[in-house]
Amino acid sequence: MKETENKRKMKAVICPKYGPAKVLKLTEIDIPHPNENEVLIRNYGSSINTVDILYRLGKAPKRLFWAFRPLIGPAIRHSAGGFRKPKKRIPGFGFAGEIVSVGKEVKNWQVGNHVYGYNPPGGTYTEFIVVSPSTLAKKPTNLSFQEAAAVPGGASPALSAFRDIARPKKGQKVLIIGASGGIGTFAVQMAKYIYEAEVTGVCGSTNLDMVQEIGADFVIDYHKEDYTKNNKKYDLIFDAIGAGTFSKCRNILTAEGLFVTTNPVIRPKNLFHVNNSNFRVCKADDSADALNLLREWIESGKIKPVIDTVYSLSQTAEAHRHYETGHSKGRVVISIN
Ligand SMILES: NC(=O)c1ccc[n+]([C@@H]2O[C@H](COP(=O)([O-])OP(=O)(O)OC[C@H]3O[C@@H](n4cnc5c(N)ncnc54)[C@H](OP(=O)(O)O)[C@@H]3O)[C@@H](O)[C@H]2O)c1
Repeated sequence: MKETENKRKMKAVICPKYGPAKVLKLTEIDIPHPNENEVLIRNYGSSINTVDILYRLGKAPKRLFWAFRPLIGPAIRHSAGGFRKPKKRIPGFGFAGEIVSVGKEVKNWQVGNHVYGYNPPGGTYTEFIVVSPSTLAKKPTNLSFQEAAAVPGGASPALSAFRDIARPKKGQKVLIIGASGGIGTFAVQMAKYIYEAEVTGVCGSTNLDMVQEIGADFVIDYHKEDYTKNNKKYDLIFDAIGAGTFSKCRNILTAEGLFVTTNPVIRPKNLFHVNNSNFRVCKADDSADALNLLREWIESGKIKPVIDTVYSLSQTAEAHRHYETGHSKGRVVISIN
């Protein structure tokens, strides 16, 4: 408890009401106490994920979910704990830090361990967080805390798409839509260096070089070329951002090919594809097991987070605004020093 012995208050970003990024406020609150089954972590990093934006807005942004937005708003508010204002006042799910206190029932973790993870109850835009040890994994030794905080929430949808759903074989052709974003940059590296696929990344002009540098064999500039019309077929199309649709892409899938998206049904016509065996939705896996596997891949040099910008905790609103543009180049991270 080195740092907490003399400190009772910590910095935290809170979301007192639903609304635009400016509702986020930096404040001071009491440092939480772990119970006997929990650990207290001095948190050095978090990241921005779509779910943070949804919980802050209390409704779905226009670019997501489209016709289903009116139905999704109440579901988001229910999940954020309040219809009028969020009950879970501190946003953020990813974290990376050092254990500073361990509940007496906790086995296997000690003060001083460097850890990272995804805290399902949220609340990681703070200097200290209490978490369940079941969510913890050792931080990759070759990443800073801020780099490690970029992994949960970003790598996990791609992991689910490749490991749990598609399992592409060596040499198979994989198309990744949104290859330059927070999820897509992990997907490109996994497809290339873990599954040894032939990778084509779809991204904008300014990101073509970066996407090739991280492993894409081919790149397609979505501003200039329609990837559904180049006569090439793919064994797997991973839509990291929900920009493509199965109906548009089915012509460029091989007979056994899969279209896997991060975005569940967002257009009425997609409803007809839900039962199609070539259409699948991935669900992020941020379990400790998943993060341990990701650590192995990171430490062996096969994958690494691509960081767009690191903001300080006091700049969290700006970080949200930046992520909301939909033009991130890799992950948007919060450094908590
Ligand atoms: N299923 C799950 O468990 C799960 C979990 C987390 C998130 N998600 C979903 O994942 C999505 C967010 O992904 P993300 O965080 O990776 O996004 P992001 O970091 O905001 O990245 C978006 C990237 O896509 C590029 N892009 C935009 N339009 C494009 C297009 N038409 N074709 C190709 N590239 C395009 C942008 O580049 P430019 O600047 O060049 O436009 C940007 O680099 C959301 O839809 C969210 O709902 C799903």
